[in-house]
Amino acid sequence: REGRRPLLAGNWKMNLTHLEAIGMVQKLAFSLKETELEAAEVVVLPPFTALRSVQTLVNGDKLEIGYGAQDLSVQDSGAYTGEVSGAMLAALACRYVVVGHSERRALHGEDDAVVAGKVQAALRHGLVPILCVGEGLEVRRAGEHVAHCTAQLDAALEGLTAEQLTGSGAGTEAGGGGGSGSGGGVVIAYEPVWAIGTGEVATPEDAQEVCGALRSRLAERFGAETAGVVRILYGGSVKAANTAGILAGPDVDGALVGGASLDADEFAQICRTAA
Ligand code: G3P
Repeated sequence: REGRRPLLAGNWKMNLTHLEAIGMVQKLAFSLKETELEAAEVVVLPPFTALRSVQTLVNGDKLEIGYGAQDLSVQDSGAYTGEVSGAMLAALACRYVVVGHSERRALHGEDDAVVAGKVQAALRHGLVPILCVGEGLEVRRAGEHVAHCTAQLDAALEGLTAEQLTGSGAGTEAGGGGGSGSGGGVVIAYEPVWAIGTGEVATPEDAQEVCGALRSRLAERFGAETAGVVRILYGGSVKAANTAGILAGPDVDGALVGGASLDADEFAQICRTAA
């Protein structure tokens, strides 16, 4: 994966208060060596309520740990009770935001159009969307997982340019930008729904099959050079013990980690394995 720095992102979901978040980031920073944090990009995705505390800690101690949010509004401001805008996340210097997670698709009715709108909203504010795609069990059993995931990818990236996809030449108001390697632009995450929170991890071959197909699709649409710098992650029951196998796939550039990212030692071990 020449030129693509591994990315390990801990999606905490609806866990940890702001005080617990501070403890978690401190522990993580303490466990990982400088060289490990250089070799792999380590990111936490706390709930909104902890973002300010994480920002203050990371800035104050100049930690090499990135952070971002788990969702954002399609809208930029206005009468949308309960929503959080990309502008607000950019003001907290978030670099990343998760978009299209299967839990939001399933529990909050987010369809492809909403997901595409959120990708656009993130890019408008200089945030890097971590776009999640993934099939449920029935689709997998029917052998239609590749078609399903590429269709989700196509829909979410509707209207994007190659520059937006890679972040090249992007003027940003947050910590984004950056070009290839540590990436700006868009990050893709393949998260098979049947592997999320179930303990059932995809095999390395399953992960590579879909991540490879997603990259091929990007190459068809945006050209091979562009596709070659986009980072594609795997997510779904990633643990320290299965990280090396998953990351062995040439098109798997890192992991989006749920449950295991709530244990600082375990997540640090995952990051170390990728470094
Ligand atoms: O976004 C990460 C995710 O959905 C995977 O969760 O708990 O299976 O690692 P988990």
